[in-house]
Amino acid sequence: MKIDLYEKAYLAVSGVLLVFCLAALLYAATVRGIHLPTHVAEVDPHRLAQTPPFDRPGVRQTGPNQYEAVIVGRAWVFDPAVIEVPAGAEVTFTATSADVIHGFNIATTRVNMMLIPGQVTRMVYRFRSPGEYLLICHEFCGIGHHTMAGKVVVR
Ligand code: CUA
Repeated sequence: MKIDLYEKAYLAVSGVLLVFCLAALLYAATVRGIHLPTHVAEVDPHRLAQTPPFDRPGVRQTGPNQYEAVIVGRAWVFDPAVIEVPAGAEVTFTATSADVIHGFNIATTRVNMMLIPGQVTRMVYRFRSPGEYLLICHEFCGIGHHTMAGKVVVR
C-alpha cells in the first residue's frame, strides 16, 4: 500500500496535535491544579438543615472584598433564589443539592457547575460589571426543571 506524501504529512500533524493536547491537559491538571468545579467535600444530603454552611444558605462577607454564597439546589428552586454581591468582589459559590442532580449556570459568565447530592461544589468568580445575571438549572431534574431559576444581582 502506498501512502501519499500529503497523507503522511496529515498523519504526522494529527499525531503531534494529539501529543500536544495530552501534554496541555496533563500540565493543566498537575502543574496548574485546574480541575472541574465539583467534589471539594462530602455532605449528607438528608441533613443539610443541620450541616454548616448549608444550614444557613445565603451570602456572607468573608474578608475585605470577599464573599461566600452558600446555595442549596432542590426540586425546583435555588435557596436563596436571589444572590446579591458587590461588583469586583471575589465571590466563592459553595453549593450542593438536597435531592437530585441540578445544574448551576450563571448566564454570560463562566460559572457552570453541577450540584450533586452528597457532594459540595465550589467555584470562585468575580463579577466585573453591575447588573442582573440569570441563574438557571441546566441539568434536566424533573417535571419542574424549566422553572428552576434565580438571579444574581451585582451592585
Ligand atoms: Cu434543577 Cu433542572
